[in-house]
Amino acid sequence: MKKKQQQHPSSGEDPWPHGAPVGGAPPCLGGCKRRIPLLPFLRFSLRDYGFCMATLLVFCLGSLFYQLSGGPPRFLLDLRQYLGNSTYLDDHGPPPSKVLPFPSQVVYNRVGKCGSRTVVLLLRILSEKHGFNLVTSDIHNKTRLTKNEQMELIKNVSTAEQPYLFTRHVHFLNFSRFGGDQPVYINIIRDPVSRFLSNYFFRRFGDWRGEQNHMIRTPSMRQEERYLDINECILENYPECSNPRLFYIIPYFCGQHPRCREPGEWALERAKMNVNENFLLVGILEELEDVLLLLERFLPHYFKGVLSIYKDPGQKRAPDLITDGWEPPRGCWELNSGPLEEQTAFLQP
Ligand SMILES: *[C@@H]1O[C@H](CO)[C@@H](O)[C@H](O)[C@H]1NC(C)=O
Ligand SMILES: *[C@@H]1O[C@H](CO)[C@@H](O)[C@H](O)[C@H]1NC(C)=O
Ligand SMILES: *[C@@H]1O[C@H](CO)[C@@H](O)[C@H](O)[C@H]1NC(C)=O
Ligand SMILES: *[C@@H]1O[C@H](CO)[C@@H](O)[C@H](O)[C@H]1NC(C)=O
Repeated sequence: MKKKQQQHPSSGEDPWPHGAPVGGAPPCLGGCKRRIPLLPFLRFSLRDYGFCMATLLVFCLGSLFYQLSGGPPRFLLDLRQYLGNSTYLDDHGPPPSKVLPFPSQVVYNRVGKCGSRTVVLLLRILSEKHGFNLVTSDIHNKTRLTKNEQMELIKNVSTAEQPYLFTRHVHFLNFSRFGGDQPVYINIIRDPVSRFLSNYFFRRFGDWRGEQNHMIRTPSMRQEERYLDINECILENYPECSNPRLFYIIPYFCGQHPRCREPGEWALERAKMNVNENFLLVGILEELEDVLLLLERFLPHYFKGVLSIYKDPGQKRAPDLITDGWEPPRGCWELNSGPLEEQTAFLQP
C-alpha cells in the first residue's frame, strides 16, 4: 500500500437514492473530446475516498481472522474459527470435516450505484433455488431513519421467517440496540469516480436514454440541467459536481447516529469498528466475480451457484452501460489514470 493523506470529504447526506446499474461509465453527452482535468477538490475527495474505502476493505478482510473488540455475531466468530483451522489443515493435512457455519439472518444494506440491482436480481433467483426468505423494500430513497422507524423496521425484519436475507438502501442498523439478534452484514462498494459518473447519468437518463426514464426519475429537471455536459459540471463547480458529500458512503457502515453523517475521525472509526464486527464481506464492484465467488464460499446456503447464474449469457441482468453497446466516454476514462492511478492500485491490495 502506498502512503495516503488521511483526510475525509466533508458533510454527509445521502445522495444516492436510487438503484444501481452495474458497470461504470455511461455515455458522455457530446463534450468528451476534452480531457477532464481533475479539480483539486475532486482529487482530494476521491483520494480520501479511496483511503476510506480501502481501509474499510482491509478491516473487513481482517475481521475474518481477528476479533478486535466487542461482540460480533456468533456466525462471524464461528466462521473465523472455521477459516482459522481449515487454513491450517489445508496446508498440513486432509481437509477438515467441520461444516461451515450457517447464519440465518443476513442483511445487505446496499450502497446505491454499486451494482446492487444486479445483485438483487441474482438474489431473486437464488432465493427460489435455495429456499431462503428474500426480504426487500420498496423504499429506495430513505437511508436514515428516526429512532421509531429503526425500531419498527428492525422488529419487522427480525420477525421474518428465517433464514432470511434483508436488503435495502439503508445506513447500518444496530439490531442489538433494539433487542434484536445482530445479523451478518454484507455490502458492495465501488470506485468513487465510477460511482459518481454512474449517478450523474442515472439521475438524468435512468438506465437507458428513453423518455420514460426521464419522466420517472427526475421529471422536474430542466433540460439545460439534464443535458449539462459532465465536464462543464466539474470544471465550473456546479454544486452537483463539487459537493464532497456526494462521495460519502461512510454512514452505510457507521450507522444511524447523526455524527455518522459528519465526516471525520469519529464516523470513520465507528465505521471501521462496525465493518470489523458485523460485516462478513465488503466487496468491490470492480471485482464482482471474485466477490460473488467469496459469497458462494462463505454463504453457500444463500449464494451457491451464483457465479454460474451471473455468467449465464441468457440471464437477465441490470443493464451494463459499458458493455451494452454504448460508447464509453473517453474523457471520463481519463479520470482513472493520472491522479487516480495511485488510488486504483490502493483499492486492490
Ligand atoms: C481448531 O480445531 C480444534 C479441533 O480440531 C479445536 O480444538 C480448536 O479450538 C480450533 N482452533 C481454532 C482457532 O479454531
Ligand atoms: C421518496 O419517494 C417517494 C415516492 O416514491 C416520495 O413520495 C417521497 O417524498 C420520497 N422521499 C424522500 C425523502 O425523497
Ligand atoms: C412492518 O410490517 C408491517 C406489516 O407487514 C407493514 O405494514 C409496515 O409497513 C412494516 N414497517 C416497516 C418499517 O417496514
Ligand atoms: C449497538 O448497540 C449496542 C447496545 O446498545 C451498543 O453496545 C453498541 O455500541 C452499538 N453499536 C453501534 C455501532 O452503535
